[in-house]
Amino acid sequence: MLKKIVAINGSPSAEKGNTEMLLAPFLRGMENAGAETETLYVDKLNIKPCTCGRMYCWYNEPGKCCISDDMNMVYSKLQQAEILVLATPVFIPLPGKMQDAINRLCPLLTPFIEFYNGRTRIKFRNDVSIQKIVLVATGDWWEKENLELVVHIAKEFAEKSAVEFSGAVLRPHASRMKSQGVLSEAGLSIQTATEKAGADLIKTGFISGELLDEISRPLILEEDLRNRYNSFFK
Ligand SMILES: Cc1cc2nc3c(=O)[nH]c(=O)nc-3n(C[C@H](O)[C@H](O)[C@H](O)COP(=O)(O)O)c2cc1C
Repeated sequence: MLKKIVAINGSPSAEKGNTEMLLAPFLRGMENAGAETETLYVDKLNIKPCTCGRMYCWYNEPGKCCISDDMNMVYSKLQQAEILVLATPVFIPLPGKMQDAINRLCPLLTPFIEFYNGRTRIKFRNDVSIQKIVLVATGDWWEKENLELVVHIAKEFAEKSAVEFSGAVLRPHASRMKSQGVLSEAGLSIQTATEKAGADLIKTGFISGELLDEISRPLILEEDLRNRYNSFFK
């Protein structure tokens, strides 16, 4: 059973954001199933963009980034993690600091390229324990399909680094989980399903499609949501 979980929350609103409304119950479910979890909020960290632009961490000093900032702490946490949870709002596609953090994960990967099933891939270094990557993503538009670009990024990262992509916990029109700033009954039931998803991932190694659909289910008619948003601008 995989027990060490590190989540990276890329929201500029950190623990006050919509993404945390999903991430917190997801991790709670994992903890209830016996895992240890920790969340790193990129907004609270000093993470500079990759500036060398020439893979210093592969060609000059394998495993070392040329920049010294809070990513040093992130690297050591991720070396211990068995499951990496990427948690993010969709910002067509990602918030800038989340993208910077993902770019800066290169020192955790070996420079040796493999060709497997028609795809080029590189593996995590031997001192990195990550075996699975899972995505938690929120958006505010109606349909879940508008989160697909972020799913593609997370899947691609897992595939390129030769680890399992364990699924995407997606919440479109996430703000509708609240009514007048308070979690609604529907929001609460989505959190309960999300908690179960976290527990299932630890206990069984996967999250069922049925549960993922329940978490993403519509909470309002598309037309009503659109009218609500548009009414701000009338
Ligand atoms: C720059 C920007 C771009 C966004 N683009 C999208 C988008 O393409 N699709 C969508 O559903 N929501 C979009 N949103 C809304 C956020 O994804 C949504 O409110 C999210 O739940 C916020 O999560 P947070 O509170 O954790 O930051 C965007 C928000 C911002 C600020």
